[in-house]
Amino acid sequence: MAANVHQDVERVLFAEEDLSRRVREMGAQISADYAGKDLLVVSILRGAAIFAADLVRAIELPLEMDFMAVSSYGNDTKSSGVVRFLKDVTSCVEGRHVLIVEDVLDSGLTLSSVAESFAARNAASVEMAVLLRKNVANQAHVACRYVGFECPDEFIVGYGLDYAERYRNLPFIGVLKRELR
Ligand code: PRP
Repeated sequence: MAANVHQDVERVLFAEEDLSRRVREMGAQISADYAGKDLLVVSILRGAAIFAADLVRAIELPLEMDFMAVSSYGNDTKSSGVVRFLKDVTSCVEGRHVLIVEDVLDSGLTLSSVAESFAARNAASVEMAVLLRKNVANQAHVACRYVGFECPDEFIVGYGLDYAERYRNLPFIGVLKRELR
């Protein structure tokens, strides 16, 4: 790992300007769709934290933020196939419009498990906003109402996405150099 994390990136896939433009568009769409509704934005730690922080600032409605922590990967690069719930929301969910915010949809295991966990909580609605939908075979079907970008199946880091807990602080999304994986 270089002293400057920018130097560990092979190429940029989504530049800072692309991300901020698309996040603003998503925020405007969400603002229109949820006008007059009691909105609870739930972001999934840790990866979605940076996207969620930008997305809520692009939504011009009253809303509440909450967080869940879920892990399916550990420090490995492949899904273990097991979703562990590490932290639940503390807000009241019943009767509210829940928007789950996630950074990336890969196998779909995480979002489908999280969505399922909301099914029994009597929310008024449960929808999902994902920044990146990876183009992978055998992805679980997850009905995401808002998708930022379709993304190739590359080894991506940045803007919340990590490799072994590093690189989340890159302001863009890029492909990690092969020799570092
Ligand atoms: C990543 C990402 C999503 C999940 C997507 O989380 O943030 O939550 O994997 O993959 P899936 O569609 O195959 O389930 P990770 O478990 O790496 O934890 P993190 O959010 O702390 O980085």
